Amino acid sequence: MPNNSKFPRDFLWGASTAAHQVEGNNDNQWTQWEFGHAEKWAKEAPDKLKNLENYSSILSSISDPANYISGQGIEHYKLYKQDFDLLGQLNMNAYRFGVEWSRIEPSEGQWDIQAINHYKNYINELISREIEPILTIWHWTMPNWFTEKGGFENKANIKYFERFSAKITEELAENIKYIIILNEPNVYASHGYYLAIWPPGGKSVFRSFKVFYNLSLAHKAAYRTIKSLNPNLRIGIAAQLSDSHPIDNQLATKAVVRARNYIWNWWFLNRIIKQLDFIGLNYYFTEYYNWRQQPKNPDTPLNDMGWYMEPRGIYNLLIELNKRYHKPIIITENGLADGKDKYRKWWIKETLIAMQKAIEDGVKLVGYLHWSLLDNFEWNSGWWPKFGLVAVNRKYMKRTIKPSAKWFASEIKKYKNN
Ligand code: BGC
Repeated sequence: MPNNSKFPRDFLWGASTAAHQVEGNNDNQWTQWEFGHAEKWAKEAPDKLKNLENYSSILSSISDPANYISGQGIEHYKLYKQDFDLLGQLNMNAYRFGVEWSRIEPSEGQWDIQAINHYKNYINELISREIEPILTIWHWTMPNWFTEKGGFENKANIKYFERFSAKITEELAENIKYIIILNEPNVYASHGYYLAIWPPGGKSVFRSFKVFYNLSLAHKAAYRTIKSLNPNLRIGIAAQLSDSHPIDNQLATKAVVRARNYIWNWWFLNRIIKQLDFIGLNYYFTEYYNWRQQPKNPDTPLNDMGWYMEPRGIYNLLIELNKRYHKPIIITENGLADGKDKYRKWWIKETLIAMQKAIEDGVKLVGYLHWSLLDNFEWNSGWWPKFGLVAVNRKYMKRTIKPSAKWFASEIKKYKNN
């Protein structure tokens, strides 16, 4: 069992969500993409996912186009107070959430006051409950007018993002401490511009790098603007890093994995490190690669998405981040798709042990935010993967805390009272 003495009293214990994955009724470039692809994905999924262990139990969901439409979400936009009650029941004192750009600036330069007021109330509600709000400005979704201009592929568009970041800072950040500018630029650039599975469906290494690079400029520009408006804000990123290892001792394998780690984990952070007050780590993957860059992971344990699970791999990344950058770290996402809630307690327990060890070894770890608070819309996989600490029945929008979450809540309580 994790030892109780290693977490500071003011440690942030919480969970994360992203606007598009929970709010419902958004109209952005992802919504458009869902409408254009739901039928196709429903047709292709049975063949694509046939090797998953839980295949028979997900077959009807994955072959239904409705699975791929975010639609009314889980009505978090309406039910957020109820969801904040859940944070309280889970003994949490922090919450990471996203604001939806397409609601706040639905047409170029036109601010929607109602949407801004909504997020003001949302943040005030968290503060009145003594829950630290951690605001993410960009979690991949954008207004259609912005993507029609070429989104982040067009350097000239960065000014719009900068203006949006300024607006968020002026309107919403007065009483908050932590703000995250970008979520996982590496995942966005690769999935949207190289793997063609996300909007806008690009298949080019060149385009993918261009977007990756432009996002680093966008971060820098937004950082400068936000700092000038509110110097006290602690500004970070949510970076998805992978704990990747060579599977053998061959020079070629080692070189390939080193290059991979550099591009995936470090290149972006190196570029923006002067413009970061803290680093947010999103951890899901430990991987073992051969020289062809094929993952050769152990056969088990696998989560519902077929991802190999080695939760203690987070330790290596925490140590490496600390060694490279010496900045405070918040684990901004960490979790698994686990519809039967079979592995979640084990995963969290292993993670807590790794976190304690990292703190002992000098890492300035400030908080842990589980992905996710609620079962939500998992992008191109849709509704079937269950990442939540809390299950949601979408017919009645009923929330039910899972057993693993109850256990986690009791652990948090121990650490807080320690
Ligand atoms: C993303 C989340 C996503 C989660 C699970 C992260 O890459 O930030 O939006 O739901 O991983 O795949």
